[in-house]
Amino acid sequence: MKILIVYAHPEPSSFNAALRDMAVRTMESMGFEVRISDLYAMKFNPVASWSDFRNGHDLSSRQYGMIQRDAYLNDLLSNDIKEEQSKLAWCDSVLLQFPLWWFGMPAILKGWLDRIFTAGFAFDKDKWFDSGLLKPRKVLVSVTTQSPESAYQESGIHGRMDQYLKPIHHTFRFAGISPLSPFIAYGVMNMDDQARRGVLQDYHDHLIRFLKKQVSINPDS
Ligand SMILES: Cc1cc2nc3c(=O)[nH]c(=O)nc-3n(C[C@H](O)[C@H](O)[C@H](O)COP(=O)(O)O)c2cc1C
Repeated sequence: MKILIVYAHPEPSSFNAALRDMAVRTMESMGFEVRISDLYAMKFNPVASWSDFRNGHDLSSRQYGMIQRDAYLNDLLSNDIKEEQSKLAWCDSVLLQFPLWWFGMPAILKGWLDRIFTAGFAFDKDKWFDSGLLKPRKVLVSVTTQSPESAYQESGIHGRMDQYLKPIHHTFRFAGISPLSPFIAYGVMNMDDQARRGVLQDYHDHLIRFLKKQVSINPDS
C-alpha cells in the first residue's frame, strides 16, 4: 500500500507536524510505503498562471482549465506540476494534513489542488465521480482547529464541521477519490502535553482502523 501525505503547515514544531509524524510511524509500522509533499518546505507555488505551461503552448483566448488539459495531454505542464501528478499516480491513497484556516484549507493546499487536479489527469468529460480518473484511491483528511468541538456542533458558533469538509471531500470525489472517515483534532491550541499525547494516540487508532479496512479491500497493493 502506497500513501502520499500532502502536508500544509509552515512550522516544523507544530502539532500538525506531530500528527504527520504519527501518521508516518503508524503507516510504516503497517508496512506501507509513504511519500510526503511538504508544501511549505518545498516552497510549492500555489498560484495558477500561464507559467504552468512549457514552451509556447497556445494561450490565446483560452480558458486556464482547457489549457491545463491540453498541456497534460501533450506533456507541456511545468515540472513542479508533473512531479506532484506522478506522486498521485504512484499512490493508492492520499492523506491530507492541515490546520483549519478560515474554515477551509490553507491557500497553499488549495493551490496545490488547483494546479495538480488537471483535466485529463484527475477527471475528464464524463469521467468524474464514479468514473473519475483517480479511482479507486481514497483520501483521509486530518485537520486541527483552534475552536473547541462544541463550536462545531449544529448549535455551536460555527455550525457543523461537515459543511467545511464537504467542499474538500467533494473535490476528491469528483476525481474518483473516496473520502475515508476524517480525523479532527479540535481545540489543539489550548491543550496541555498530556491532552496532546491523548489526541496523537486517538489518531494512531483512527489510522489503524481505517487503513486496515483498505488493506482488506485491496489485498494486492
Ligand atoms: C490564518 C488562520 C486562520 C485560522 N482559521 C481558523 C478557523 O477558521 N477555525 C478554527 O477553529 N481555527 C482557525 N485558526 C486556528 C488554527 O486552526 C490553529 O492555529 C491550528 O489548528 C493549530 O495547529 P498547530 O498547533 O499545528 O499550528 C486559524 C489560524 C490561522 C493562522
